[in-house]
Amino acid sequence: MSPILLGVNIDHVASIRQARLTRYPDPVQAALVAEQAGADSIIIHLREDRRHIQERDVHLLKDVMLTPMNLELAMTDDMLLFAEKVRPEFCCIVPERREELTTEGGLDVAGQLTRTTEACQRLQEAGIRVSLFIDADQDQIAAVCDTGAKVIEIHTGHFADAKSDQERQGKLQKIIMAVEQGIRSGLRVNAGHGLNYQNVQEIACISNIRELNIGHAIIARAVFTGLAGAIREMKQLMSEVRR
Ligand code: PXP
Repeated sequence: MSPILLGVNIDHVASIRQARLTRYPDPVQAALVAEQAGADSIIIHLREDRRHIQERDVHLLKDVMLTPMNLELAMTDDMLLFAEKVRPEFCCIVPERREELTTEGGLDVAGQLTRTTEACQRLQEAGIRVSLFIDADQDQIAAVCDTGAKVIEIHTGHFADAKSDQERQGKLQKIIMAVEQGIRSGLRVNAGHGLNYQNVQEIACISNIRELNIGHAIIARAVFTGLAGAIREMKQLMSEVRR
């Protein structure tokens, strides 16, 4: 089975800093520790309300990181302009609402095909690989193929939040089918959101998923074990089910 990569989202290191407007903890330091501990890429979400990652973080990270940067962003002109200037290796377009606690649903690519296609073109012309964060939904995957994006990230949050075993199994089956459809369509398939030390193996064992993007659970575990240990533990769980 092919190995699975771990993208570590360090937004919540910045959340702790922003809670007191201090200079620490610094997401730049977190990224370097994460890379040493085996993170395959570093993910940051520059939200429009700047509640965690700041523009300064993105610029400094771009200078020092050795692994690819995956910049999550809303599909607005300001954010696209910013990404064109910074030129991260990947951009993941996500829907964004100011009042949400975290990204709540996938992007409605089918419902805004022209706008999404134009955004993908702009980013790709700047040399950025574009990923679209979508629900495990047939119509959305079909629509992605019309945008020119070559990567999808399937939203695992509904699976992670399922209230019963039956609901959880239903969500898992949808993810498995979405991964197959993505691969058949020639896309690179990543997945993420809501994954933690308890549920990650059910998703990591889906053999065609290339990368998992995980943030909150790793940063939360790091409070007790340190960031490097938290990342190693997550990678170990992921790779155990890919042998
Ligand atoms: N993938 C995307 C597109 C996200 O927006 C987020 C949250 O920022 C994640 C993955 C990581 O989610 P979590 O913090 O729940 O691991």
